[in-house]
Amino acid sequence: MKLKKKKIEDRSVSIDDGKYTPDPESMIQVFDLTRVYQMGEVEVRALDGVNMKINEGEFVSVMGPSGSGKTTLLNMIGALDNASSGAVFVNGINVANMDDEQQTNLRLRNIGFIFQFYNLVPVLTAYENVELPMVFAEEPEESRRKKALKFLELVGLEKQMDHLPAELSGGEQQRVAIARSLANGPALVIADEPTGELDTKMGREIVKILQDLNKELNQTILMVTHDPAIGKLAERLLRMRDGKIVDEIKL
Ligand SMILES: Nc1ncnc2c1ncn2[C@@H]1O[C@H](COP(=O)(O)OP(=O)(O)OP(=O)(O)O)[C@@H](O)[C@H]1O
Ligand SMILES: [Mg+2]
Repeated sequence: MKLKKKKIEDRSVSIDDGKYTPDPESMIQVFDLTRVYQMGEVEVRALDGVNMKINEGEFVSVMGPSGSGKTTLLNMIGALDNASSGAVFVNGINVANMDDEQQTNLRLRNIGFIFQFYNLVPVLTAYENVELPMVFAEEPEESRRKKALKFLELVGLEKQMDHLPAELSGGEQQRVAIARSLANGPALVIADEPTGELDTKMGREIVKILQDLNKELNQTILMVTHDPAIGKLAERLLRMRDGKIVDEIKL
């Protein structure tokens, strides 16, 4: 199946705050990023000076012990949370300098999210779950239908399109979530332990779909995993510990 390549075109909101200059080639660039949570008297440094760069079209995995800051890092990149200090640039734009509408737009149109527990809407069918982001993006009904069917076919679920999430296996639910993440043609897909709830075989199938999307659509993929066999399927592996990136391996 041929799909149209998508790029983030809008750099108009790029603000050079002088301190950090992102590489124009980068899809994601993170500078001196910290995130401190205040828990009563105790400070938790979830991120403690992270620097990294991911180029357009790269497939990068992130591994590290529980609590090392992986989800926190993804949340910063996806504009789901704000940094304590440092900066995150997505396609050359400083996420912190975006207003609410720009951040919403980034999440809705430019980034596809895939989570460990699928996060499907339980009362909507597979088809309706995939269609939903396009409804929010005010895409006309006819083209919503075409795309939703195309993405469900891409993940091999056209026959199950009328199933509710509870009527699908874990692997099938995650495939619906992948189809949904593609709905608005994001240039970047962020996946937080997408295979965490699946057996090895289904986990590999899910990653194979991500690999195909990475190659065919030139989508940039950033995937967190606990499974070394899954982590090795990316092109580059980052290791985190105690809120820092401590190692980087080209695969
Ligand atoms: N909202 C929050 N409030 C307070 N502390 C938090 C919050 N979110 C995360 N933390 C803390 O920040 C640290 C990093 O958490 P994070 O969720 O990023 O880890 P993780 O690497 O994704 O772990 P896991 O592999 O278990 O998912 C942990 O010590 C965690 O307890
Ligand atoms: Mg996590």
